This record gives sequence, C-alpha cells and structure tokens, in this order.
Amino acid sequence: MQLLTSSVGRKVLMAITGQLMVLFVIVHMLGNSSIFIPGGINAYAEHLHALPPLVWAFRLVMGAAVAIHILFGIQLSLENRAANAESYAVKNLKRATLASQSMLYTGLLLLAFIIYHLLHFTIRATPDIIAGVDAQGRFDVFGMVTGSFSHGIIAFVYIAAMVVLFLHLSHGIQSFFQTMGWNNNKTLPVIGKIGTVAAVVLLLGYASIPLFIVSGILKG
Ligand code: HEM
Repeated sequence: MQLLTSSVGRKVLMAITGQLMVLFVIVHMLGNSSIFIPGGINAYAEHLHALPPLVWAFRLVMGAAVAIHILFGIQLSLENRAANAESYAVKNLKRATLASQSMLYTGLLLLAFIIYHLLHFTIRATPDIIAGVDAQGRFDVFGMVTGSFSHGIIAFVYIAAMVVLFLHLSHGIQSFFQTMGWNNNKTLPVIGKIGTVAAVVLLLGYASIPLFIVSGILKG
C-alpha cells in the first residue's frame, strides 16, 4: 500500500494522526478546565466513564494513532538525517527553528510524559495519589489532582512537559498544513502564527492547573 511505503504517504499518515491528537489535547484541556468550577471535574469524569465501550473504542483509536505517529516519526527523522548528511547543511537550515529541529526529541519526551501521566491519573499507581470519593459518592478527581499538584516536584514535571508539548505543537500544527499541501509562501506566515497561538493557548490552559494548585490559589 503506497500510503505506508512512500515517504509522502507516511507523512500524510503522521499529519492525520497528529491532528487527531491535537483534537484530543484541545478537548482534554477544555475538560480539565472544569477543575475551576466547583464540583465540575468530578461530574465531567463521571459522565466520561458512563459508557465503557465508548471509552475503550476511543482508547483503541488513540492508541493506534499514537503508535503510527511515533513509529513513522522516528523513521522519517532517521531518513531525513541520513539525507541531510549527504547534502549541504546550510541549505537545510533555511527555515529551521528550535521547535522544528527538536521534533524527534520533544516527541520522545512527550511519549515519556504520556506513560507517566497514564500511570499517574488513569492507572493511579503512583504513591502521591489520593483515591477518595466526594460528598455525592463520585470518584474525587478534584481531590486526586489537587493532592498531587500540591507536591512542587510533580507540578514542576507537568509544567515542564507542557512546555515540551508547546514546542512540539508550535511546529507540528503548521507542518500538518504543509504536508496536506494546504500551504503556500503567502499563507505560510499566517498558518505559522495560528500554530503558535494554538500552542500558546494549550500551554496556558494546561499549565495553569498545576500552577494554580502549587501556588495555593486553587485549594483541595
Ligand atoms: C495539567 C495537565 C493535565 C492534567 C491536569 C490532566 C488530567 C488528567 C486526568 C485527571 C485524567 C484521568 C481522567 C479520568 O480517568 O477520569 C487524564 C487522563 C488522560 N490524559 Fe491528561 N491531563 C493533563 C495533560 C495531558 C496531556 C498534555 C496529554 C496528552 C499529551 C494528556 C493525555 C491523557 C490521556 C491519554 C489520558 C487517558 C484517557 C483515558 O482514560 O483513556 N493529558 N488526564
């Protein structure tokens, strides 16, 4: 199948799986923001888990998307490196930015974060987790998250991971338009700005949670 064997096909698959993940991080950030509404995040989590078959279908699709994105990402990075070694370095650094040059590393760091994050808030296997119920008998996600982020080191790890996410997305979002051929020299600066603004919004939306908790503004 050409989609898997040609380098353009693999790039398109990476772009589509990447956008699926961008959609997920937008929805997840909006859901997490319910932590600022009293009782909000416990109600949100309860609704989310109300239909287990749907939750598992979503996990399968996202798991496959993440696997495809990582495997082809590593492969394309290695191929690009081999190709660049043969040509003039200067030519390839034309529009290189810190974000574009570090995609492989920020991607691998995000993978490490996702593994930690799943062990942390989904599997709840880390020692800091407080697993209780609220006054309505719902799982107390609010207590769990505020309890965890009151540890400075955990809040710091999350904020650092969100900076890495920002770097990865500030290049990744514009790359998507480039790969799909929805970009040209005229639209490139605009698309680049849209990508950066979206990445900043996600950074602020996510990082505000550990930041507000560790600074004592949002209390458990
Ligand atoms: C401050 C930042 C974040 C907070 C406070 C947070 C919070 C949470 C919580 C509480 C859960 C468990 C939900 C539940 O089971 O009821 C969860 C699950 C999850 N989070 Fe996050 N999250 C954050 C950032 C992220 C980021 C940046 C990503 C992706 C790059 C991510 C990916 C996931 C995934 C994949 C799950 C598992 C969903 C499932 O149950 O299948 N999270 N998060």
